[in-house]
Amino acid sequence: KSMLNIVKIKKMKKDGIPISMVTAYDYPSAKLSEEANVDIILVGDSLGNVVLGYNSTIPVTLEDMVYHSRAVARGAENTFIVTDMPFMTYHGSIDETLRGVRKIMQEGHAHAVKMEGGKEICPTVEAIVKSGVPVLGHIGLTPQSVNQIGGYRIQGKDAKDAQRLMDEAKALEAAGAFGIVLELVTEQVAEAISKELSIPTIGIGAGRYCDGQVLVFHDILQYASPYMEKRFVKTYADIGSVIREGLGNYVKEVKERSFPSAEHVFTADEQVLDSLYGS
Ligand code: KIV
Ligand code: NA
Repeated sequence: KSMLNIVKIKKMKKDGIPISMVTAYDYPSAKLSEEANVDIILVGDSLGNVVLGYNSTIPVTLEDMVYHSRAVARGAENTFIVTDMPFMTYHGSIDETLRGVRKIMQEGHAHAVKMEGGKEICPTVEAIVKSGVPVLGHIGLTPQSVNQIGGYRIQGKDAKDAQRLMDEAKALEAAGAFGIVLELVTEQVAEAISKELSIPTIGIGAGRYCDGQVLVFHDILQYASPYMEKRFVKTYADIGSVIREGLGNYVKEVKERSFPSAEHVFTADEQVLDSLYGS
């Protein structure tokens, strides 16, 4: 399998080939995602919720992102990896932002970065793209701004909001983003944006007409993901149940002393007993 790049990713849109993206946060999730042939792995700052147990993405640091991104890169050497810039790491000076991007790319071994926001981050997107780093945009519900937005609300319900989202998407394309994630956006607005842009849209809770789809690893697989009402998620496997059952059986067998059994033990020579217990 040959690794994707942003030229091929943009061409997928032209050719009408849907783009599959899934999050991964460590070696095993990355390895399994690569084995499933996903087009793009996102090292999302959703790791704050699903891997670190925070109740938002706000506590996630640049160091967290680098650490998880590196592990993902080791598990998926042949997959295009996009890593999130976490909360407030791209709102200061361009110099400071580029230092963070350097870490994500050079120490986190990502191929691109993702950042949340519209027009206000366009100068930053431009500067990063000029430095040679591909940027994936992210508009609609932007979880890093949850305290500003006032909750995890659907975006693009009325005409004014629809226009705002369209303007943000166009501005990001003009700034050089290679694609845009649309999160929790009404289907009609996501469809219109997808038609209007020449770069691909990747939707999560954004309906059927985006150029690609992204979901969170732990959500798709019921892997102890924190409970939230998420109509847009489809469960493809229930590995949480499999793990609970396996671990439960292990604990039970240890308590019963039925594990380990003869097949799991190592045996020494007969004389060992004499030396151990003497005569
Ligand atoms: O962090 C994440 O998982 C994301 C996706 C929801 C797009 O940003
Ligand atoms: Na994210």
